[in-house]
Amino acid sequence: MAIRNIREIGDPILNKVCKEVTEITPRTKFLIDDMIETMYAADGVGLAAPQVGVLKRIVVIDTTGEDLLILINPEIVETDGEQEGYEGCLSVPGKTGIVKRPNHVKVKALNEKMEPIEVEGEELLARALCHELEHLDGHLYVERVEGELLDNSALKDEEE
Ligand code: NI
Repeated sequence: MAIRNIREIGDPILNKVCKEVTEITPRTKFLIDDMIETMYAADGVGLAAPQVGVLKRIVVIDTTGEDLLILINPEIVETDGEQEGYEGCLSVPGKTGIVKRPNHVKVKALNEKMEPIEVEGEELLARALCHELEHLDGHLYVERVEGELLDNSALKDEEE
């Protein structure tokens, strides 16, 4: 496994639509392993393949540190409610902003064995699912921020 370089806002690869995964090759397995390692190393709660420069519909998410999700060709099939909160992205380092998201999301996907799975999430997990899936269509959360994009450090001062 290896930590891959995370692409940052301004890199055109982050604005491209990713391709469906049709089979798991050894290369896809390496990619998934590297995405997991890269996400944990960067202290992130989610990572999408385009963030490491690969235009495939794969995301990894872990909002608690012990609930790793590997989602291939994920699709949102149901949303409910609303939440508003600060969001950040490993591709937009040092920044945060307020984004409205559904409070409950249901996602249909394939797991790493290409078996169909369903994942449901609320609050932070619902937010992470929406955020990561948007990466696969070339969108970043900054397009949805209400008000200004803030420096992370400003937010920390506010909390203290
Ligand atoms: Ni992101």
